Amino acid sequence: MDDSNLHASFVPAVPGQAALGANELHVWAVPLHGDPERFGALLSRAEQQKLSRFHFADHRRRYQIGHGALRLILGAYMGIDPADVEFVQGPRGKPYLGRKGPFFNLSHSGKLAMIGLSTVELGVDIEKVRHLESLHEIARKHFSESEFNALNALQGEARELAFYRCWTRKEAYIKAIGEGLSMPLDSFDVSLCESPEFLACRDGREDPARWSLLDVSPGPEFVGAAALRAKGVAMKCFRLEGA
Ligand SMILES: CC(C)(COP(=O)(O)OP(=O)(O)OC[C@H]1O[C@@H](n2cnc3c(N)ncnc32)[C@H](O)[C@@H]1OP(=O)(O)O)[C@@H](O)C(=O)NCCC(=O)NCCS
Repeated sequence: MDDSNLHASFVPAVPGQAALGANELHVWAVPLHGDPERFGALLSRAEQQKLSRFHFADHRRRYQIGHGALRLILGAYMGIDPADVEFVQGPRGKPYLGRKGPFFNLSHSGKLAMIGLSTVELGVDIEKVRHLESLHEIARKHFSESEFNALNALQGEARELAFYRCWTRKEAYIKAIGEGLSMPLDSFDVSLCESPEFLACRDGREDPARWSLLDVSPGPEFVGAAALRAKGVAMKCFRLEGA
C-alpha cells in the first residue's frame, strides 16, 4: 500500500508560503520515497557521515529525504538557506534550532515523516498501524492503570486503534518535554477515544490543563498525535510538494 495516500486535509504546499502565527501548529507530511538527491545535497557534513553508516539503501533514502526536508522546511520558516540551519541537542537528544526560530519536532514511521512546527514547545509522533502480537504486553508494561483498563474494555480493530492513539499521544508528550522512552510512561494519563486529552500527570512535572493534545493522523494507515504546552492551538496541515 502507498504510504503517501494522505488525507485531503494535508494540502500540497511549498515551504515558505505559510507564516507561523502565535499558537499555531503547522504539520508537514513528507513521503519518504522518490529521488533523494535534491534532499541529500542539503545535509551537513555530520549528517552525511551518519548517512554513510546506514547499511540499507532504503534506510539511506528515508534519512536523506526526511532530514533534507527538515532543513528545507526550517530554512523557509527562518528565511535562511537550508544548509545553514544549525541544530543543538537537549540532554536526551531532542534537536532544537541553534538560533532564533520555531520549535519543531520530527517523527517517522514506514515511508512517511511528519514535522511539526510551532511558536511553543511541542512533540509529534506518528505510527504506521500494523497488527501487533505484543500489543497486550506493551500496554501492560507502558500504559497507566486507567489506560490499560480502557484498552481492555475494547476488542478487535477498535482496540488496536485505541492502542495506537494512546501510544502516539504518550510519545508526543514525552517528545515535547524532551524525554525518552526511559521515562516512566505510566506517570501520566491520556485519553484513548477519538478526542485527544491529557487527563492527568502524577509526577507533578506538568499541569495537563496548560497542554493541548491534537490528532494529526495523516492518512488511513497512520495514527499521529501532537502535544503542545499551550491552549487554543490552531492547526494547519501540509504535504511537502515534490517529495
Ligand atoms: C525520542 C524517542 C522516544 C523517539 O522514538 P521513535 O518513536 O523511535 O522515533 P520518532 O520517529 O517518533 O522520532 C525520532 C525523532 O525525534 C527527535 N528526537 C530525538 N530525541 C528526542 C527527544 N529526546 N525528545 C524529542 N524528540 C527527539 C529526532 O528528530 C528524531 O529523528 P532522527 O532519529 O531521525 O534523528 C526515542 O528516540 C528516545 O527514547 N530517545 C531518547 C534516548 C535517551 O534517553 N537518551 C539519553 C542519553 S543521550
